[in-house]
Amino acid sequence: MSKQFPKGFLWGASTSAYQVEGAWNEDGKGPSVQDMKDIPVGTTDFKTAVDHYHRVEEDVLLYKELGLKAYRFSISWSRVMSKGEKNPKGLEFYRKLINLLKENEIEPIVTVFHFDLPYDIHEKGGWENRDTIQVFADYCQILFEEFGQDVKYWQTINEQNVMALAGSAIGTSNKSMKEKFQENHHMLVAQALVTKNYHNGHYPGKIGPAPNIASVYAASDKPEDQLAALYMSALRNWLFLDVAVYGKYNHNAWHLLEKIGASPTITVEDQELLKEGTCDYIAINYYNTMTVSAYYKKENKIDQQSGFGIPGFFQSVENNNLLMTEFDWPVDPEGFRFTLNEVYSRYRLPILVTENGIGAKDILTAERSVHDDYRIDYLKQHIEQMRSAIEDGVEMIGYCPWSAIDLISTHEGIEKRYGFIYVNRSEEDLKDLSRYKKDSFYWYQKVIKNNQL
Ligand code: BG6
Repeated sequence: MSKQFPKGFLWGASTSAYQVEGAWNEDGKGPSVQDMKDIPVGTTDFKTAVDHYHRVEEDVLLYKELGLKAYRFSISWSRVMSKGEKNPKGLEFYRKLINLLKENEIEPIVTVFHFDLPYDIHEKGGWENRDTIQVFADYCQILFEEFGQDVKYWQTINEQNVMALAGSAIGTSNKSMKEKFQENHHMLVAQALVTKNYHNGHYPGKIGPAPNIASVYAASDKPEDQLAALYMSALRNWLFLDVAVYGKYNHNAWHLLEKIGASPTITVEDQELLKEGTCDYIAINYYNTMTVSAYYKKENKIDQQSGFGIPGFFQSVENNNLLMTEFDWPVDPEGFRFTLNEVYSRYRLPILVTENGIGAKDILTAERSVHDDYRIDYLKQHIEQMRSAIEDGVEMIGYCPWSAIDLISTHEGIEKRYGFIYVNRSEEDLKDLSRYKKDSFYWYQKVIKNNQL
């Protein structure tokens, strides 16, 4: 049987605005929460990032050479909207990027919000303030009007579940569960409103959410561990996708929120809106699975991928069957097949993978090469499993690994590199910011060209 991927499969790669652009206060851009947060000691801030804002032509040419069929990026809300006003220079930058992509036959895939809430909105209460729902919808309306004819795939909110469950780790929110799930509810309503508006505008594309989805394994065959896995998955995964697809809260997640006193206030209008603004496809970010047992201890390590526990419900535990990356994230390619199948069998909507990849301390050799065979191994294994998922019957739109080019990690600096393209800078020293193609660049180029491994 041919191992080719379906015709038109979108082989892509991803980035997000604040992690690559830099130019944090140029051309009318206001600060976002990412510009104002406390940066962990020893890691860089996001002020220059990898200077994509000034090198966008060069970067898109490299994407072209890589052979990308699609490029998933995010739009910086505080670049496009400055103190509530439309910023023409900000829009100009994204117009240029989208035009460059299209000239090079690369499908633009746009996320409208990726962790970088404008700081002025944050100061007015951020997502906890109901008014943010309409402010977000107005911002999205501008994007749809400007780019709606050129962008065929939109994502509303990147990893809303990570913001709700591990906001302190990624620097987006540090509040109580009650406050976070009220914020989260407002985001869900905002997503529904924007989705409804998009549909009403009859634009020629599709819109969907982009949560971080990971199947949850039970630590043992003990019934209480199985139930723990069911609850963790409801809170971590299905809460977000049930609302996006079915327009209503998952019953297990809701029960859990009520039990811990964190259920949000929901109006009748909200309930109606959630039903009216459901998504066209599902974008997911996948890094690894989670394993949980019944809750047995009080201390929890909070990590955005795997550390989490709720008394009475579940406790994340290490899975000794899985290898770990040098940044201590489990590696589980078969879990990727499992997760894709789980999502598809629940929702029966096509899936676009918007992130998947390995963070590593790459080394630039004297010859200006990067021998990142570990990245090739990681991606190869995940692509094999994705291929198996397609054979299982899962409908896939495309695959956009994290990341197209090196970028600044959410909280572990530039040292934790993900890209196919190396950027010459360190935490403290911007050096020359030159771009170098890694071994994985040439490998992925072949995969794309052959439409198979
Ligand atoms: C996802 C985010 O959580 O994982 C990205 O959408 C992030 O923004 C990526 O960079 C990898 O996480 P980290 O913490 O290694 O940067």
